[in-house]
Amino acid sequence: MPIVAVIGGQWGDEGKGHIVDYLASRSQMVIRYGGGNNAGHTVTNEQGVFKLHLIPSGIFDPTIINVIAHGVVIDPGVLIEEIQSLEAKGISTSRLFVSDRAHVIMPYHVMQDQLQEQARGDGKIGTTGRGIGPAYADKVERVGLRAGDLLHEELLLERLRAVLEEKNRVLNRIYGVKPISLHDAYLRFLNYGHQLTNYVTDVHAVIHRALEKDVPVLLEGAQGALLDIDHGTYPYVTSSLPGAAGACQGAGIGPTRLSSVIGVFKAYVTRVGEGPFPTEIHDSPDADMLRQIGKPWAEVGTTTGRLRRVGWFDAVMARYAAEVNGIDTVVITKLDVLDEFQRIKICVGYKRHDELLEYPPMSTALLNKVEPVYEEMPGWNTPTSEVREFHHLPEEAQSYVARLCQLVGARLGIVSVGPERDQIIMVNDVL
Ligand code: GDP
Ligand code: IMO
Ligand code: MG
Repeated sequence: MPIVAVIGGQWGDEGKGHIVDYLASRSQMVIRYGGGNNAGHTVTNEQGVFKLHLIPSGIFDPTIINVIAHGVVIDPGVLIEEIQSLEAKGISTSRLFVSDRAHVIMPYHVMQDQLQEQARGDGKIGTTGRGIGPAYADKVERVGLRAGDLLHEELLLERLRAVLEEKNRVLNRIYGVKPISLHDAYLRFLNYGHQLTNYVTDVHAVIHRALEKDVPVLLEGAQGALLDIDHGTYPYVTSSLPGAAGACQGAGIGPTRLSSVIGVFKAYVTRVGEGPFPTEIHDSPDADMLRQIGKPWAEVGTTTGRLRRVGWFDAVMARYAAEVNGIDTVVITKLDVLDEFQRIKICVGYKRHDELLEYPPMSTALLNKVEPVYEEMPGWNTPTSEVREFHHLPEEAQSYVARLCQLVGARLGIVSVGPERDQIIMVNDVL
């Protein structure tokens, strides 16, 4: 049975939540494998419009097991709020499992993230300020607390005492912050543990029991390939592994088990926060058309409400993302957003002086200076949001999508023409 990773192919917000929500009913388990509540996945279906940050987008089908796996960093307060808000809307979370190995975002991580960003001044990364980077840093430094620790009173106190003393010293001496009280933090996180006790468990067993039964499984990515700590536009990246390797690592599923890697790409590109963006379109009518301000799917960050930067499809970055992650299936989302363009540009190469670059260079300085080489395609000037068959799309739209897949180097799976669950054109089976 297929085990399929659905990853972002760009800088996040490609519409992963929408695609996972659509595909979920064909699976029996959805696993979120990385990132934290820096993610914002918008799901629009018959049950309403939902902005998910930690809970997998398979939660709307009561027959599906949803897992928040080891590689995720969890802010327990945010998770509890998300559970409560879903339950209040009649969405059951009784089949949600949270890994006891997942690291916990602590208040000092959030403080550190925000203070570090302030201190960076013009060199800021533009993080979501949710404590993601510091939480992953502590995990790697081996001083993190894990979800399982919240369930054991003595262990929690012991771990918290050890780490808080140093955190307080650093935060106080560098940033002049008032120390966090061990007593208050202990009671608060113990209470979180009590509230999450029915969810936190050894999900290795849950996942591998399902694999033994050979059920279809979806691995839901957060962020995108170009925000990857190793392969992204460092240092303007997140601190996790959003790609296919991260899916295996974060879920504890060996790479030999993956049947397919679906790369979700917008039909153009957006980015939130700082960092190089060779095909960015600055203030212009084209940028306004891509942003779709006023529409429910406007390019405004789901998590932070920041205006997303917008630009043309960058096939240099997309192909690189496909190679790094073994993307074999392409999903193109938001094709409908291009419905009114006369001409559409695709970046097919980067020029640096007289040299044509095949791959994105590692340095930010260089990436900021490359000149995109564009190919232009005619627009279709026809609404596509009601189309449900690929061959019913205007010919220009078919050619545009086919060209993107050719440049990415993978077959087409799905085209999305709107945020609703049924606004999907299934081209090839993906699960
Ligand atoms: P994610 O983080 O990858 O799950 O993406 P986000 O939810 O942050 O951002 C994608 C936005 O586009 C959301 O508002 C979705 O409802 C919306 N969306 C997804 N697919 C489509 C589509 O094909 N057309 C339009 N118009 N909106 C879409
Ligand atoms: P989803 O899952 C878009 C960006 C932030 C910032 C950088 C580092 O919704 O696609 P962090 O807080 O992670 O340390 O910030 O990464 N970023 C995202 N951009 N979508 C996301 O998630 C993102 N998660 C992080 O804007 O530039
Ligand atoms: Mg998002």
